[in-house]
Amino acid sequence: MAGQTVRLGVAQETLMIPLYGRAVESRKPEGEAVLRDPAAEAMVEAIDYDFSRFDGGPSLAGTVMRTNLFDHWVRTFLAENPDATVVEIGTGLNTRYERTDNGRAHWFELDLPDVIELRRTFFTDSPRRRMLAASVLDDDWTAAPQAQGGPYFLAAEAVLGYLPEEDVRRAIGMLAERFPGALLALDTTGPGMVDTQDSHDALSKVEAKLRWNCPDPRVLEEWHPGNRLLASHTFTTMPAEIRDKLPAQYQEMIANMTQQQLPQVEDYRLNLLRLG
Ligand SMILES: C[S@@+](CC[C@H](N)C(=O)[O-])C[C@H]1O[C@@H](n2cnc3c(N)ncnc32)[C@H](O)[C@@H]1O
Repeated sequence: MAGQTVRLGVAQETLMIPLYGRAVESRKPEGEAVLRDPAAEAMVEAIDYDFSRFDGGPSLAGTVMRTNLFDHWVRTFLAENPDATVVEIGTGLNTRYERTDNGRAHWFELDLPDVIELRRTFFTDSPRRRMLAASVLDDDWTAAPQAQGGPYFLAAEAVLGYLPEEDVRRAIGMLAERFPGALLALDTTGPGMVDTQDSHDALSKVEAKLRWNCPDPRVLEEWHPGNRLLASHTFTTMPAEIRDKLPAQYQEMIANMTQQQLPQVEDYRLNLLRLG
């Protein structure tokens, strides 16, 4: 039964969307779910919040497809670098550690202080897993992951779009300076999504607004010498090895979206950037 009252800032509340997406997905019958996430199910049960506002739209499926690709990138990285360090930037109540940890890597989970306070009611630090309460824009938080050593995988899933472009540039510049050679997974939203967010099925239900309008993620290569965009996918151009393993309902949805070429779909990209 829902019971835990939460008070979160405006941008922070958006963590409820992917949390609920994973919980809904996890409850689906065998063969219909992209992922299992019993921890997300339990958190949705425990938190006093009207999650039903996100029911019925396509965004929950979108959050799950996004997470599935980010998980794939992390698993691939850890298979090649088993002692790597993973940094979740704007971790929210994400459970990537539960889904992809290999028993050897080190994890840092960064978010704003009110989110980390909430996160600490569900998760505890361990010798290989630590929460960090700070803004990605703060100067000090990188010291702990830097002291741990690389190679680094940085995941900023559904985070940077809520910042103005000048802040995203500053964050990416700082990450490139402090974690050169790291992989950074991040999503970008172009005008098709930014300009229609007031009618977006999930974003219209929260106060937060997308602020970084990025029509072409190749611009990230210009933001720091050595930055290289290794991959950039829309939901209609997911890597074949990921798309082909999705449940039938998802494959149908992707086929429909491919036909329709909706600007809000085609302008939303999932990117893998090597930092210079
Ligand atoms: C849509 S949620 C995504 C959460 C998580 N990445 C996931 O996929 O479940 C956005 C998250 O970004 C965090 N966030 C927003 N601005 C931030 C900042 N300046 N520094 C760190 N985290 C931030 C929010 O608090 C929130 O947890």
